[in-house]
Amino acid sequence: MSSSSNETDLNRHEHAGRTRATALITGLLTASLSHLVAAKAETKPSKSYVRRKPWPGGVNATTEFPDDRALPALEAIRAADLAGAIRAAGLGDGPVGFSLRGYSPGSRATFEVRAGGRRVAVKAYAEDPASEAALYEALAAAGLGGESDVRVPPLLAWERDLRVLVIGWLDGPTTRDLVRSGQGRRAGELAARWFQRTASLSVKLGTPVGVRDVMDWARTWVATLSADDPALGTAAVALAESLERKQPTEGTPRLVHGTLYARHLIDLGDGPGVIDWQRFGQGPMELDAGTFLATISRIGLLDKTRETEALQAQEAFLAGTAGLLDKRSLAWHEAAMLLRLAGKQNRRHDDRWRERACALLGESTRLAETAG
Ligand SMILES: Nc1ncnc2c1ncn2[C@@H]1O[C@H](COP(=O)(O)OP(=O)(O)O)[C@@H](O)[C@H]1O
Ligand SMILES: [Mg+2]
Repeated sequence: MSSSSNETDLNRHEHAGRTRATALITGLLTASLSHLVAAKAETKPSKSYVRRKPWPGGVNATTEFPDDRALPALEAIRAADLAGAIRAAGLGDGPVGFSLRGYSPGSRATFEVRAGGRRVAVKAYAEDPASEAALYEALAAAGLGGESDVRVPPLLAWERDLRVLVIGWLDGPTTRDLVRSGQGRRAGELAARWFQRTASLSVKLGTPVGVRDVMDWARTWVATLSADDPALGTAAVALAESLERKQPTEGTPRLVHGTLYARHLIDLGDGPGVIDWQRFGQGPMELDAGTFLATISRIGLLDKTRETEALQAQEAFLAGTAGLLDKRSLAWHEAAMLLRLAGKQNRRHDDRWRERACALLGESTRLAETAG
């Protein structure tokens, strides 16, 4: 076979692949967006929630569309869009708008997709998202679906070959937005409701994660800080040693979210919703609670005008989870997460990152003393 006919074969093959991918993504989006219309008609309207103050849109919301070969769904969406194929049937065939809400090059991209007043989240990955898809289904089956006041997004569609998930959009301010807009107590209460409701869940999916893993990660966070700034590195080394000495004994593992940042908990009006389950596993509840509290503390530590709100959120959270969590283990996990957040401060390469890292390390050191 000559090289030119090889190329022709290759082109034909590529073309067929693209056509299939375009059809798949079009089908997926159309089905998801029109499913919402049908679902809306079937379910009773949820109690409306009147936002008292406006909240800022996602800080990362942009109209940019990354070009990333590691995420096969991106190419498919672009091709389908160019072909004018993405139209939401049942919504007057109107245009479908994409906004990029999160992007980690080579790993994942998340879009808010709107059509005819409806929204879904499209999550494109480099790795197979089958386990995350299975988790959304298991959580819905366990009672955290659309009828519940404590819920996760419904899985609307997914396609293994394209490594893409389409999930329902959970609308409302995040607990981070609440703390920043003066509603700390509400943020803490909502998060506590999440733990009250999920403490008894028996979803067994996910790989084990716990104190040993956190200690392993801590070594990399310390290394990052040491490389960026020797003085901060010294403080981080001492902190990691203290965490090493005070490792808590772990309770019965249960489903953990893995990245329960304040921005992943949403105020749905009648209860909390939790998004972004990519890093779920089986581990101690204190890992999620410590992550939540660390991201709340961070708000007050880095913005003194929000200090009181952050403290109120923490107080309300602790009051609402009394008896559910081990305090020493919680302090340990919060301290570890603050170390992690300190290690991320230099990402913005501004001249105040040391000050921020120092504030986070200080709080982490204080907490580590009460931990274990
Ligand atoms: N189902 C959803 N409902 C509401 N907002 C969402 C949803 N999925 C994603 N978002 C928004 O997009 C952002 C990025 O999505 P996320 O799932 O956290 O992915 P990642 O952190 O991996 O980029 C979230 O912080 C949130 O603002
Ligand atoms: Mg996220």
